[in-house]
Amino acid sequence: MESAHAHRKDEHLTIAEVQMRKNGLVENFNDIRLIHNGLPELAVNEVSIATTLPDFKLDTPFYIEAMTGGSEKTGKINQQLAQVAKETGIAMAVGSESIALKDPAARASFEVVRQENPDGFILANIGAGHPAQHAQQVIDLIGANALEVHINTAQEIVMPEGDRNFHWLESIADIVANVNVPVIVKEVGFGMSQTTLQMLNEIGVKYVNVGGRGGTNFAAIENQRNHNEDYSYLLDWGQTTTESLLEARLADTPLNILATGGIQNPLDILKAQVLGAKMVGVAGHFLHTLLNDKQDGLLNEIIIWQKQLHELYALVGAANENELADVDYVMSAELESFARQRM
Ligand SMILES: Cc1cc2nc3c(=O)[nH]c(=O)nc-3n(C[C@H](O)[C@H](O)[C@H](O)COP(=O)(O)O)c2cc1C
Repeated sequence: MESAHAHRKDEHLTIAEVQMRKNGLVENFNDIRLIHNGLPELAVNEVSIATTLPDFKLDTPFYIEAMTGGSEKTGKINQQLAQVAKETGIAMAVGSESIALKDPAARASFEVVRQENPDGFILANIGAGHPAQHAQQVIDLIGANALEVHINTAQEIVMPEGDRNFHWLESIADIVANVNVPVIVKEVGFGMSQTTLQMLNEIGVKYVNVGGRGGTNFAAIENQRNHNEDYSYLLDWGQTTTESLLEARLADTPLNILATGGIQNPLDILKAQVLGAKMVGVAGHFLHTLLNDKQDGLLNEIIIWQKQLHELYALVGAANENELADVDYVMSAELESFARQRM
């Protein structure tokens, strides 16, 4: 029989999908409108959507964000995601591997990702609070090219069996200083503030995924799992992805910014990039496609998104990621008010 931890992984998957069906698509990125320029003076075949970061370069700026692994069922999903990542050449993160540190039976559900995609760009994942030695173990388990360290205080609070000790900075600094791949500190959907970003920058972090509100909602998922206490008043907790990207601008650090949270289409990706994200992760939406349209459906969707992102770059007159910084946009009154109050 699988452990309670493995069972939790299955529950996350099922509840995330049920909530996606129930709530439909959240219009997260409607608070940003890009300004149309009828004369971009560019051809689609002159566009490159490649993204270059200090330690690596990727042909596609969006990737499959951390979700699964740890149980037999989630291992099968990891296998399918890895095959799609290989065929499309996009990067992929696995879900938290901390379960594999305790339970050797869980390892295969992560190892399969490297077996299926020997040359792909794969991101390992572990929670903050672990020592560097654990982080290196989860990197080695899948021969990862980078490591995501997730911070998820709000999820832990609502989770029935969640942590209550959030002294994490020291262990994050330890991981960043001692593992042998680039480290991305990542929120799981509650966003980031200028203060959080500045604190991460000060301890030597180079990459941050602001992981904002607007997509998969872990307060809602854990609240559905939590049968004893009600935390439904926390369902709107945190900064949205667009608010978090504005926070990152205001924080004014040399951090390399990534984004995730509520991405539903290539225009959302473009908007996140215009606001400063170098890479954009997609979790819940790709899971939804995989579960409903099977592996071929997801493969097809990602190929279409790659094609359409080239077209959207041309539409806004950006031949490459550097030129995205020149794209004009306006904010909704609410977002503009947020930005003003946070200056
Ligand atoms: C079923 C599921 C499991 C997840 N598990 C993890 C995890 O183990 N580690 C992590 O960093 N993020 C995890 N996430 C969070 C995603 O990586 C992402 O940050 C979040 O879902 C917001 O993106 P989205 O709106 O595109 O889903 C999970 C998401 C889903 C849907």
